[in-house]
Amino acid sequence: MTYTNKLPEAGTTIFTVMSKMAQDFGAVNLSQGYPDFDGPRELHDAVARHLGQGHNQYAPLAGVPELKEQIAAKVGALYGCMVDSERQVVVTPGATEAIYCALTAIIHLGDEVIVFDPAYDTYEPGIRLNGGVARRIPLQSPHFRIDWQRVRDTITDRTRMIMLNSPHNPTGAVLAPEDIEALREVIDRHDILLLSDEVYEHLVFDGREHLSLLRYPDLAQRSFCIFSFGKTYHVTGWRIGYCVAPAELTDAFLNIHQFINFSTTTPLQYALADYLRDHPRHHLDLAAFYQRKRDLFRDLLKPSPFHLLPSRGTFFQLADYSRVNDAPDREFAAWLTQEHGVAAIPISVFYENAPDQRVIRFCFAKKDTTLRQAAERLAVIASL
Ligand SMILES: Cc1ncc(COP(=O)(O)O)c(C=O)c1O
Repeated sequence: MTYTNKLPEAGTTIFTVMSKMAQDFGAVNLSQGYPDFDGPRELHDAVARHLGQGHNQYAPLAGVPELKEQIAAKVGALYGCMVDSERQVVVTPGATEAIYCALTAIIHLGDEVIVFDPAYDTYEPGIRLNGGVARRIPLQSPHFRIDWQRVRDTITDRTRMIMLNSPHNPTGAVLAPEDIEALREVIDRHDILLLSDEVYEHLVFDGREHLSLLRYPDLAQRSFCIFSFGKTYHVTGWRIGYCVAPAELTDAFLNIHQFINFSTTTPLQYALADYLRDHPRHHLDLAAFYQRKRDLFRDLLKPSPFHLLPSRGTFFQLADYSRVNDAPDREFAAWLTQEHGVAAIPISVFYENAPDQRVIRFCFAKKDTTLRQAAERLAVIASL
């Protein structure tokens, strides 16, 4: 048999590798980004109810109308963005599928996509599998800000799309109003689309607002905005998210979605529609919920030798370990798991060109007891 693997160097994602290592060594798993607690009981009960009510066959291609209406109402209330739930909303099996569909709908051979370094690990394969070329631009230390002059200099006739992610995984950085202005100015003269990954939309801290591109009609009209119910309702394993985009882009998106997954798990959609209708505050309370966890975790780590970087959003905390040793981050993460019983993610995996830094990512979407247990283990690590 002769064949060529399209992603030969991809291997197994670091999230699977670290979670397995955590299990093998009985480590506290702060690596992969998922909660170790359940979502709302009533939401789970609603799934069971809909399973019992015969909602078990294919959902419509773009999603069940009840859920799409709730999504349209939600983005209207949160971002002042009036969307037609029939033409502009698609429910997908996770944000991951939505990102892939948006890229596949738009990217042709040789098209360039601007991606910021570091980036969530699904972006680049999605671009490359479609024959596109990712043009990586490093985020600027120490606050992981976008260098808009670099963006201007990187745009060519082939630039088709810019991928944005705010709040940003792995850094916890968030877009500021100046970024929105700069983005507007940069794309004004170009025919460029935007993919805005906003899966952590509700996890923005310290009184800041999430600057969804849906707030800005001129930007929304050229954007795929992508969200995840998994993050919002602590149900990452359910694999359910959605994309909001102008009708024309949604049509192109659906052309792809129909051949990848066709539709998304039916009883989950009905359950989420009920829950959004009956509990409109859940997502409004989420920032305070996670900010408290962030602050607890940061406090608990004060006696440890780690230097904590700012975390303005997401449920991730970057930690500089250069006071512990000088090992490369993959090696350090393996050592930390095996010798100290705490698993984290080496952040070099998010980079094309990783700078010379000693930084790992912890996930604080965990029970307080888990965070305390991890912190006790981290506190005893000796400084150099
Ligand atoms: C930045 C970012 N985008 C997308 C996703 C994928 O979301 P989902 O689980 O809904 O596919 C994640 C998950 O960790 C993420 O961190």
